[in-house]
Amino acid sequence: MRDALRRPLHDLRISLLDQCNFRCPYCMPESEYHADYQFLGRKDRLTHAEILKLARIAVSLGVSKIRLTGGEPLLDRNIESLVAGIAEIDGVEDLALTTNAMLLAPRAQALKQAGLDRVTISLDSIDPVVFAVMSGGRGKLEQALAGIDAAADAGLVPVKINVVVQRGVNDAGVLDLLEHFRGSGHIVRLIEFMDVGNRNGWRMEQVVPSRELLERIGQRWPVEPKQQNYPGEVARRYVYSDGKGEIGFISSVTEPFCGSCSRARLSADGMLYTCLFATHGTDLREPLRNGADDEELKDILARIWLQRADRYSELRRPELAEAHAQSKVEMYRIGG
Ligand code: GTP
Ligand code: 5AD
Ligand code: SF4
Ligand code: SF4
Repeated sequence: MRDALRRPLHDLRISLLDQCNFRCPYCMPESEYHADYQFLGRKDRLTHAEILKLARIAVSLGVSKIRLTGGEPLLDRNIESLVAGIAEIDGVEDLALTTNAMLLAPRAQALKQAGLDRVTISLDSIDPVVFAVMSGGRGKLEQALAGIDAAADAGLVPVKINVVVQRGVNDAGVLDLLEHFRGSGHIVRLIEFMDVGNRNGWRMEQVVPSRELLERIGQRWPVEPKQQNYPGEVARRYVYSDGKGEIGFISSVTEPFCGSCSRARLSADGMLYTCLFATHGTDLREPLRNGADDEELKDILARIWLQRADRYSELRRPELAEAHAQSKVEMYRIGG
């Protein structure tokens, strides 16, 4: 099944809930997401049974890679049983989880046993003070690092470390962070700060182009490019020439990769989005709860994909961005 730009459906990213124990200023600034903010209620969110049903249907349409996200997915206390259900679906080849790792250490073993393949950790700095600021005062670096160690011990590998780089905020510490993880077997991925959502005050000046980072890194350690792992991989891969590991660059702003984008995103309240920068999605919860059978749901999903023509990052221009602003779905609602 191919969309209007001939791209197959390959990944499904499932956001389990819109809440998070962090308040990263670029994602959920505290001023907006305060104590009285109304997050989705339990009844608004898809149940695990509903998620499983949709996951099975997506797999029957070609999805082989599933990622669980949030907000913070480990705030879902029963996530292990959902993982077990998804891992059992015939055709799921890669099941991953994106987390800030604060709650990971005590649960890594159980997640592995349930069938999770690997984790990706969002960690923006190895400096405890910068880390605390970038998590909105909620994160403790030591605890996140313990989560990373536990994940590696449990075999949730390769562990990937996602770093959103913002000029003037954490870019000065990128080399220290790389140094920390060099030789650990974990893959650090440097992400250009993106204009997702409407509330993170994104400005182009805050983006550090991957090109610039690569140059800075190359002056410290020789690196060389490596072939992509699979078609449509988001990160461009490099390895240290001395064999100390891999770095990825995710350059959605300066080098968009819409041409091979094969990802669909399901929000916690059952909206299906076909682009990270979407302004609208399709409600799947309503048909699910009104008794649509598998065939009908499959038909809805297939129709959405066949019509898909999104390529926001490739079209990104200031005037368009302005027209688009204020109506995009928020990052924490679709999990990146
Ligand atoms: P792997 O399966 O490990 O290769 O992970 P991934 O590259 O699919 O992505 P991950 O979830 O770790 O996301 C890394 C960063 O890339 C996040 O900031 C995402 O928001 C961003 N990203 C992932 N997919 C897309 C996409 O389709 N478009 C854009 N613009 N950014 C994306
Ligand atoms: N730009 C780039 N990456 C972002 N993430 C969250 N907000 C942004 C943004 N504005 C990252 C998170 C997480 C991943 C899924 O998306 O840090 O690692
Ligand atoms: Fe939470 Fe991730 Fe958003 Fe930070 S970026 S507030 S950890 S969902
Ligand atoms: Fe895919 Fe949209 Fe990202 Fe382009 S901007 S790669 S279409 S999610």
